[in-house]
Amino acid sequence: MGKVRAVVARAKGEPVTVETIDVPDPGPGEALVAVQACGVCHTDLHYRQGAISDDFPFLLGHEAAGVVEAVGPDVGDIAPGDFVVLNWRAVCGRCRACRRGRPWYCFDTANATQPMTLDGVPLSPALGIGAFAEKTLVAAGQATKVDPRARPEAAGLLGCGVMAGLGAALLTGEVGPGDSVAVFGCGGVGDAAIAGARLAGAAEIIAVDLDAGKLELAKAFGATHTVNAGEEDPVEAIRGLTGGNGADVCIEAVGHPEVMKQAFYARDLAGTLVQVGVPDPAMRIDLPMIDFFGRGGRLKPSWYGDCLPSRDFPLLIDLYLQGRLDLDRFVSETIPLEGVEEAFGAMERGEVLRSVVVL
Ligand SMILES: NC(=O)c1ccc[n+]([C@@H]2O[C@H](COP(=O)([O-])OP(=O)(O)OC[C@H]3O[C@@H](n4cnc5c(N)ncnc54)[C@H](O)[C@@H]3O)[C@@H](O)[C@H]2O)c1
Ligand SMILES: [Zn+2]
Ligand SMILES: [Zn+2]
Repeated sequence: MGKVRAVVARAKGEPVTVETIDVPDPGPGEALVAVQACGVCHTDLHYRQGAISDDFPFLLGHEAAGVVEAVGPDVGDIAPGDFVVLNWRAVCGRCRACRRGRPWYCFDTANATQPMTLDGVPLSPALGIGAFAEKTLVAAGQATKVDPRARPEAAGLLGCGVMAGLGAALLTGEVGPGDSVAVFGCGGVGDAAIAGARLAGAAEIIAVDLDAGKLELAKAFGATHTVNAGEEDPVEAIRGLTGGNGADVCIEAVGHPEVMKQAFYARDLAGTLVQVGVPDPAMRIDLPMIDFFGRGGRLKPSWYGDCLPSRDFPLLIDLYLQGRLDLDRFVSETIPLEGVEEAFGAMERGEVLRSVVVL
């Protein structure tokens, strides 16, 4: 058992605080990771607002990279000293999705079994990780070994939002060479979808946002055209940019029914809509069923970009090291553990793609 400093959300809606928590030594199937960097994601704010569950206190943070410090008795895939990116999809290999050869949907993912605690009270780690902490305890499968030459601040971002966006384009949307792609919402997730579409060889990549600054950044990630949805109708604008047809793949990276509707109608016939933005539980969609049928194609939610961390993290880190995937550009600022509450504000004001805690 060791004591470390960590960011805890103690009660619904209250500012987070830095506390000293207890982290157990790794037991069977577990790994202790010394966290080097962890990005601030919208999901952390959702936890602290009580929008995900009422299991306070939460140990926040889940987009992280670090070095394995110790492993449990039966752990073979990783060893102390390995540089790892943490993931929230440690696949089980036994559930019905895994057995059917679709482990990226795994319905029984693993987390550490022993709890980290604050004054003896078990903490609920965000997405089963909890990495705004000097050290965190995870299931060994949640730590994916990657090339240690990657900068931790950049590598850790693959652990959630950036992977979700890249995968929304590459895996869920199956963007291919010559496709036209429209991405709605150019935050960290949307910009990663733009970068993914460029990697896949898309011919046109149309970025849609309400914020001119976000649209400028989207160009740096590979957008060939931009549409300010506050100034013009994005459906008409996208049709205009695609010979009157609409885009082959539309990616919704906001999590709003109106934006989803725009993405639905901005598709070409038989096109694909990828829903990677996460809606609030109260949101409803209202579409004429004849349009759903008549426009054809595919409507696909994207959980974590349909990624398989053991396959995709090492590959994407290699592309990053080759200079083909600019993960550094997602890092807007680096902050200490004490800066997380302030970073939530910067995120809500739309000032950053990612604030990253460096330990
Ligand atoms: N599916 C997954 O596994 C997964 C993983 C991580 C995050 N997410 C979700 O992805 C979404 C985006 O995350 P993020 O970190 O990029 O958020 P963000 O807040 O950084 O970015 C959202 C962007 O959308 C823009 N926007 C807001 N309303 C808009 C509108 N009406 N039209 C066009 N653009 C609009 C904002 O200006 C902003 O640039 C969130 O819902 C998040 O919860 C999903
Ligand atoms: Zn499984
Ligand atoms: Zn996240």
